[in-house]
Amino acid sequence: MVNKAIVLALVAFCESIVAFPSIGHDFGHNPHSHPKKRINGILPGFDAAAQKIDVSGAHAFLPPGHSDLRGPSQFVEATNSVFGMGLDLATFLSTYGAVMDGDLTSWSIGGAPGTNLLPGLLSPSGGISNSHNKYETDGSPTRGDLYEYGNDYLVQLSQFKALYAKQANVDNDSANYDLDILNAFRAERIAQSKLNNPYFFSAPVSGIAVQPAAYTFIYRFMANKSAEYPEGILNKEVLKSFFAITGEGNDMTYTPGYERIPQNWYKRAIGDEYTIPFYATDLNLAALQYPQFLEVGGNTGTVNSFMGVDLSNLTEGVFNAENLLEGNNLACFGFQAAIQFTPDLLKGLVGDLTGAVNQLVGALGDTLNVLDCPKLESIDDSQLKQFPGYTKLKADGSY
Ligand SMILES: *[C@@H]1O[C@H](CO)[C@@H](O)[C@H](O)[C@H]1NC(C)=O
Ligand SMILES: *[C@@H]1O[C@H](CO)[C@@H](O)[C@H](O)[C@H]1NC(C)=O
Ligand SMILES: *[C@@H]1O[C@H](CO)[C@@H](O)[C@H](O)[C@H]1NC(C)=O
Repeated sequence: MVNKAIVLALVAFCESIVAFPSIGHDFGHNPHSHPKKRINGILPGFDAAAQKIDVSGAHAFLPPGHSDLRGPSQFVEATNSVFGMGLDLATFLSTYGAVMDGDLTSWSIGGAPGTNLLPGLLSPSGGISNSHNKYETDGSPTRGDLYEYGNDYLVQLSQFKALYAKQANVDNDSANYDLDILNAFRAERIAQSKLNNPYFFSAPVSGIAVQPAAYTFIYRFMANKSAEYPEGILNKEVLKSFFAITGEGNDMTYTPGYERIPQNWYKRAIGDEYTIPFYATDLNLAALQYPQFLEVGGNTGTVNSFMGVDLSNLTEGVFNAENLLEGNNLACFGFQAAIQFTPDLLKGLVGDLTGAVNQLVGALGDTLNVLDCPKLESIDDSQLKQFPGYTKLKADGSY
């Protein structure tokens, strides 16, 4: 039960969501070309007993019941102990989830926990399955775009198969869906969304800072760590297990709710947690290779009509296309934009907007100092109004 909730939370993460994080970590390269190498030369250790995740007994997988509204009840503790997510990242993500798509203090997958409207909430939340462009975003790896498929939380088998096929010529045991592969796939998925979704929108927060996590989390969290490959190998069977996929080729099947931590699976090394600064490094490396990952903007109501916005205008001169890759600016922009957009996105949904903003600021702790962020005082969203992906988000209220 617990494991189930955690896996779902992570997959929802890896898809819908998620979030944000200069430490010299490098990409998880294919082990066959770059055995055990990191930019700073420091490898995480490996401690089998401490890293093995127990999926038996009280932690055995339990298929979902009909009316289950499962959610990450102890999100921070669970993502840390099961996946090795940094406490800084987990704290921000869980707070953002609760504020944007939960009931301000907790959150769930299919809707807000509980059926009563809690004090302070003006309308029921749709949960993280229904958080389009707030937490969830277009161009996810396996989930479809909301305005293309009518839902943004189910795996589209065509998308999973496209990712899976990236290692088509590699045998099962040697396959590794590392960050090189995932970033290339991300570039493809964005191009695909621009071509097929008239309302494609890469939002300042969910597009720039959250969408990348949907990709990096797959390798960083799901890869199976070992003494030989302390950063992990994400092979075909493990990938399928986390995405509730069985079978091969034309017989491939997706069974929602059956996302599972595999047997004999090892999490990140203790002391090598995936923190916000670590994530910030992954963000930069990916954007250096694929400059389109820095685009804020969208299609204007027809397919293939993408227009980018002027970042300097949006951020009132603080960030621009040139300085976005300096220091931790990319992550800095994402986190601060999340705070700046919160009152606007929650207007009419939450009574105490200042309280909601303060909750987010509190959850960030000293992250903005740690990242050495230029201060973003406000956002000018006038350019965003030309994008239906943005105006629909606001008009639709909860998602
Ligand atoms: C890979 O694993 C799948 C499912 O376990 C199996 O059907 C397929 O034949 C395997 N492929 C190879 C090359 O071993
Ligand atoms: C994880 O790696 C270890 C060491 O190579 C291996 O024994 C184990 O079977 C792997 N687990 C999975 C789920 O592939
Ligand atoms: C951004 O551009 C709009 C016109 O497109 C202008 O009205 C607004 O003042 C600009 N904002 C800033 C901060 O420069």
